[in-house]
Amino acid sequence: MKRAIIKNLLQQDEFNQKVLVKGWVRNRRGSKNVAFIALNDGSCLNNIQIVVDFSKLGEEVMEGVSVGASLSVEGMLTESAGGGQKMEVVADKIEVLGVADPEKYPLQPKKHSLEFLRDIAHLRFRTNTFGAITRVRHAMIFAIHKFFNDNGFYNIHTPIITASDAEGAGEMFQVSTLDFKNPPLNEEGEIDYKQDFFGRKTNLTVSGQLEAELAALAMGQVYTFGPTFRAENSNTTRHLAEFWMIEPEVAFNDLNDNMDLAESMLKFVTQYALDNCMDDLLFLSKRLKDEEKGKKANEQSMELIEKLKSIVDNDFVRLTYTEAIDILRNSKPNKKKKFDYIIEGWGADLQSEHERYLVEKHFKKPVILIDYPAEIKAFYMKMNDDGKTVRAMDILFPGIGEIVGGSQREERLDVLQAKMKAMNIPEEEMWWFMDTRRFGSVPHSGFGLGFERLILFITGMNNIRDVIPFPRAPKQAEF
Ligand code: 4AD
Ligand code: MG
Repeated sequence: MKRAIIKNLLQQDEFNQKVLVKGWVRNRRGSKNVAFIALNDGSCLNNIQIVVDFSKLGEEVMEGVSVGASLSVEGMLTESAGGGQKMEVVADKIEVLGVADPEKYPLQPKKHSLEFLRDIAHLRFRTNTFGAITRVRHAMIFAIHKFFNDNGFYNIHTPIITASDAEGAGEMFQVSTLDFKNPPLNEEGEIDYKQDFFGRKTNLTVSGQLEAELAALAMGQVYTFGPTFRAENSNTTRHLAEFWMIEPEVAFNDLNDNMDLAESMLKFVTQYALDNCMDDLLFLSKRLKDEEKGKKANEQSMELIEKLKSIVDNDFVRLTYTEAIDILRNSKPNKKKKFDYIIEGWGADLQSEHERYLVEKHFKKPVILIDYPAEIKAFYMKMNDDGKTVRAMDILFPGIGEIVGGSQREERLDVLQAKMKAMNIPEEEMWWFMDTRRFGSVPHSGFGLGFERLILFITGMNNIRDVIPFPRAPKQAEF
């Protein structure tokens, strides 16, 4: 008999058929004559109930059936007499595939803290919370590809190992096969990377943007969706050392087109979650409510489903950096010196406390901030006519802060060259990037969406380490 997936089974209404199910025991309870096993196979949040009648099978069949053990069960799919569930499987045959010593198995049918679960990330897929997050994460990956495919974009794989620093922030992990203890040296006594694997100094990419630009200037509309790596030593709930980024790049798009694209994409994937993940979202909504029980009413977050709907239903606010600085400078927390970083004036880099003030307190909806000071943004952004600001855009989300960073790109060769010179970015090493501005250059724009920040938003989780299966952060690479 073929194994039935529990998710499909639970949608059935043809009872009294023989079925075979396999999965892991989430719970067991019962009496002298009968046992009830909650079996989960990961396909959905719900378990299927297995009924074991001892008068039929003998009590011995329950040997080894403890929380965490894996089972194969054959039986009759039956309409359930009890409350709680629509159907159950009345077992004919139970086989324990793998035992889980109850003395040692760390997961029990009770609430475990997220911190504890982070320490056993290899087992946390087996909890309701991480099952739900994993399924939502999958649905979002699918929705993103669907959005771009439906809109005529091509997916590009950009390199993971690269010789350039796309963001110019110098926060890269080096990739090398040289012997640390005894590296080859050149005449100046410095490490001779000519002898390294790639014949040059290489690192893990911080962004696929530069290569996506090359593709966009031939293919029109492209996007990357790949892993990116940043060696910034920030131990926050919003940063990972290894995260996934979605980066569309579109020829002929200006900044307004770029904002429209980002806003419609975020709305599409949010709607996709509402349409396809409701069971998991309702569970996550309840989880969030439980977590915030002790908080004051004005500190509690908006109910999860309501929050997601509000993204789909409302236009994002669009304003310039200069306007935002005015709002922040005159805000209560700034005047009362409640911010950690007080906004003194134009030119200040915005911290997450400022971004969240704008989104959560001032506008109470997502905000797209544009036209930032050139000094605080990357070299590739298009200079405005004021000579001071660039065509940057950051999208700020409630509870998250920056979720998207993007810009219109500097397509004028001379302006780009001058900018790179001023920022000490060696043009010779980027000759291939400069060539796009030499040959058939066009206005173009793109952005990067941090995938885990999106998942934080959709699931209502608070710590970015809980929305990626195996987080990489400073001093953390266990699993
Ligand atoms: O703003 P960033 O640095 O932009 C870029 O990398 C551009 N090259 C994107 C582009 O225009 N193609 O990063 C983009 C997004 C941020 O808005 C944030 O959501 C996410 O990536 N991000 C991180 N997510 C998790 N951990 C980190 N350390 C992150 N750094 C950035
Ligand atoms: Mg950014």
